[in-house]
Amino acid sequence: MRLLWGVVTLSLCVYHANAATGPTILTNPESVFNLTNAVLTCNITDPPSPIKGNYWMKDGVEIKNTKSEATASTTQFTLDKIGNTDGGVYTCVFETEPISQKTIDVKTPPHVKPYKDSEHGNENDKGVLACVSHSYPAPTDWTWYKITETGNEPIINGTDKYEIKSQPNKTYLYITLLDMNADMGDYLCQGVSELGMASGKIHLRVRSRLAALWPFLGIVAEVIVLVTIIFIYEKKRKPDEITDDDDSGSAPLKSNAATNHKDKNVRQRNSN
Ligand SMILES: *[C@@H]1O[C@H](CO)[C@@H](O)[C@H](O)[C@H]1NC(C)=O
Ligand SMILES: *[C@@H]1O[C@H](CO)[C@@H](O)[C@H](O)[C@H]1NC(C)=O
Ligand SMILES: *[C@@H]1O[C@H](CO)[C@@H](O)[C@H](O)[C@H]1NC(C)=O
Ligand SMILES: *[C@@H]1O[C@H](CO)[C@@H](O)[C@H](O)[C@H]1NC(C)=O
Repeated sequence: MRLLWGVVTLSLCVYHANAATGPTILTNPESVFNLTNAVLTCNITDPPSPIKGNYWMKDGVEIKNTKSEATASTTQFTLDKIGNTDGGVYTCVFETEPISQKTIDVKTPPHVKPYKDSEHGNENDKGVLACVSHSYPAPTDWTWYKITETGNEPIINGTDKYEIKSQPNKTYLYITLLDMNADMGDYLCQGVSELGMASGKIHLRVRSRLAALWPFLGIVAEVIVLVTIIFIYEKKRKPDEITDDDDSGSAPLKSNAATNHKDKNVRQRNSN
């Protein structure tokens, strides 16, 4: 057993020794934050094989038009006007055998947007409001507020009324049993990261249950009106049809009045 551990330890040491003699890539700067422009530089020493070229990646995806066949040991990538969505993990890749690469974090403050500026729900239903952040790094904390006349009231998670479900770049606020008076209004979602905070505002409208039924009631009313018109029209036509039937005398359906009338005629004829 002790021998086995010895072998394992020895091979781990050999592995570490190999790693230490691999290439070194120095980056400048080591990371970027709160900047509007930046030039990312990588400088490789001791490449494992001759350099055949290089390119850059963002969040693991090759950045278009950065591929170069340059054999130089340095490469640069320029970021102009760093926007909220430009943050991420940038990587310089030198084409060696095996490839050599190093990452540079580009961090931007949170950029919070409501999923929709305005949401609506029906009375007594469950309402849901959502916000997303496109920044790197994603917010570490999310808070929801209800905007009232006296200020922003923080919303407490896990009450009968509210539930907050947050992921790093997304947050949801669920509101149960929507009330037209109490729940209608403006809400604020706020994301906080090491680089700052940002918030988004959502307006929630609550419709009465009846209002939700209006389109349906409209159709029902239309159908009733149509049926009534058809009914009245048919009623008006009916007397004509009866006299027609009477003349032909072959109608299977006769009103009692018509039959009585005929009987009378017959009786009269008999008496003549
Ligand atoms: C790259 O690094 C080497 C040694 O660390 C240094 O001598 C050289 O000047 C650097 N080159 C650039 C372009 O930064
Ligand atoms: C949120 O993060 C997930 C994975 O962490 C990613 O797939 C998704 O695209 C991100 N969404 C936004 C809006 O950044
Ligand atoms: C809110 O509470 C629920 C359970 O009541 C929990 O699952 C959820 O993770 C909590 N959300 C936050 C943001 O703490
Ligand atoms: C980045 O800038 C924001 C606002 O400009 C500031 O609040 C924040 O403290 C800065 N972050 C760092 C790490 O300097």
